[in-house]
Amino acid sequence: MSLIKLIEFNQLGDDRGGLVSLEQNKNIPFDIKRVYYIFDTKGSVARGFHAHKALRQIAVCVKGSCRFLMDNGHNKAEVVLDKPNKGILIDVMQWHEMHDFSDDCVLIVLASDYYDETDYIRNYDDFLCQI
Ligand code: TYD
Repeated sequence: MSLIKLIEFNQLGDDRGGLVSLEQNKNIPFDIKRVYYIFDTKGSVARGFHAHKALRQIAVCVKGSCRFLMDNGHNKAEVVLDKPNKGILIDVMQWHEMHDFSDDCVLIVLASDYYDETDYIRNYDDFLCQI
């Protein structure tokens, strides 16, 4: 199965502007328990560098762009998120990194559970041992 799982959301916008709707268990394949967003990211900063044991997430660049690197311990793949109707599924046990944030990037993330530090694997060697 492909490492990069993109979801294209329907564009509901019209001549007044854009509109995208995200609904749990419809175009988002899980219950949404948490939403967070990353913005004002400083130049050359990279984020992520972890995997989750149970959490599933979908990230959408609602403004600007950033590059995702996904890694399942065997293969790596990259994709640029640059459209407000393009989401990437960050599935369980996927090491992920975010790079090349544009100055205007707003990255919104929908998560299947509350924040729980014990669900994180932040050390790459630990990740490789647990896959
Ligand atoms: P971190 O996981 O380092 O962000 P990223 O992986 O995107 O680079 O999170 C930064 C800090 O914010 C860290 O102390 C954990 C905290 N945090 C929360 O309290 N709740 C959340 O929902 C998230 C995503 C992070």
